[in-house]
Amino acid sequence: MLKKTYPYYLANRPVAANADLAVFDKYSGKRATRVALADASAVRKAITAAHKAREAMAAFPPDARRDVLEHCVRRFGERFEELAQALCIEAGKPIRDARGEVTRLIDTFRIAAGEATRIDGDVIELQVSERTRGYRGMVKRVPIGVCSFITPFNFPLNLVAHKVAPAIAAGCPFVLKPAAKTPIGALIIAEVLAETALPKGAFSVMPCSNADAAQLVEDERIALLSFTGGLVGWDLKARAGRKKVTLELGGNAACIVDADPGASLDHIVERLVFGAYYQSGQSCISVQRIYAHADIFDTLRRKLKAAVAKLRMGDPRDEKVFIGPLIDEDAAERVDGWIAAARKGGARRIAGGTRAGNLLPATLLEDVPRDADLYRKEAFGPVALLERFDDFDAVLAQVNDSDFGLQAGVFTARLDHAMRAWDRLEVGGVIVGDVPSFRVDNMPYGGVKHSGLGREGVRHAIEDMTEPRLLVIRDPA
Ligand code: SIN
Repeated sequence: MLKKTYPYYLANRPVAANADLAVFDKYSGKRATRVALADASAVRKAITAAHKAREAMAAFPPDARRDVLEHCVRRFGERFEELAQALCIEAGKPIRDARGEVTRLIDTFRIAAGEATRIDGDVIELQVSERTRGYRGMVKRVPIGVCSFITPFNFPLNLVAHKVAPAIAAGCPFVLKPAAKTPIGALIIAEVLAETALPKGAFSVMPCSNADAAQLVEDERIALLSFTGGLVGWDLKARAGRKKVTLELGGNAACIVDADPGASLDHIVERLVFGAYYQSGQSCISVQRIYAHADIFDTLRRKLKAAVAKLRMGDPRDEKVFIGPLIDEDAAERVDGWIAAARKGGARRIAGGTRAGNLLPATLLEDVPRDADLYRKEAFGPVALLERFDDFDAVLAQVNDSDFGLQAGVFTARLDHAMRAWDRLEVGGVIVGDVPSFRVDNMPYGGVKHSGLGREGVRHAIEDMTEPRLLVIRDPA
């Protein structure tokens, strides 16, 4: 399904340089394809081209930007299955999750197409006293300039889309570095963008080494850096100089199941299993900590145990497989090690099994010590912990006892509890009636504390990628 080699894209054009980057099928471990790797000089050229394209991109009319985005929507639809299979191979993403991600890729571009012609300004009343009579104020939003994007392996299409589509809608040229382990999705997006009328230099998509990507962080010609990935994002921010920085980093998301959870426990178990284990937990908002009220704890535990034990693990191409491989063996070994350490510290395994290479069975633990890595850090694997609580206010404090704060889920029938959770939880988003893993691509999405800075979600990203510019006009005297 994959081509033998893929070029990178420099200033809108494919460059078939040495295909130095091998991309592996994450299930079979075999080499699936090779990708051209950009070097430091190519990255510099891309930044220069983007810098030169600033005016052309700003002048590229909103309806033309919308047309580019709509072209992408159409082409992604036509190439739907190819995109899903590519994800399945390069990320080891179970095919059902892969198709779900292609659907979201299309959603994200469609939302951006709608926003492209809605970047409105404001009329400001300046006549606030005698002194300002006859002055009128207006504000419009203008593109911020060159953006650099660095994207992670876990959503090779949609987390690229969350940077690229708003940049096009906003009129910003960009240079993007996709994850080295999963560059194919971004390169197919670039191939489709190359079919459009975007001004020359508007985009570059280039797999490159982290050393060569340093320019995307440090070059002063770049106005905004948007990074999705691990906690290294904070180091990038420290090196980014005067540019604006958006960081979407990790989480160890919690989900509360209240005494009266407002839905059947069977439904809640289905959602928890999805939230904790879809794409093997490799999502920043996968459910890692489950807090269940004492009144429903035993029943929920029993149902969860049965549901987790049923999850099929194996080849992500198999439509019935729920647990595919982790991105590599190191990741699986790390998570397995955290599970072992938690068990050594007194945790008990409710469900789980033995790791085989980068395949780690879905695991559920209880009595996890609160100082264990599995409790405090981001697991990014198919593992969750279950804990009992008696008091709703105390459990809110327990959710907040974390360095992270991306999203939290609350199943409750009580409006006052839902509102208290919204008021008190230190997170970017509270999801009532579902797991924290719920995301629609127009939602403001991002975290507090170590989880990041700023928000994505198309309109919110466009706001970051544009700046207000004021016009004041004085009436003739
Ligand atoms: C993430 O892992 O941060 C993205 C989650 C999502 O888009 O569903």
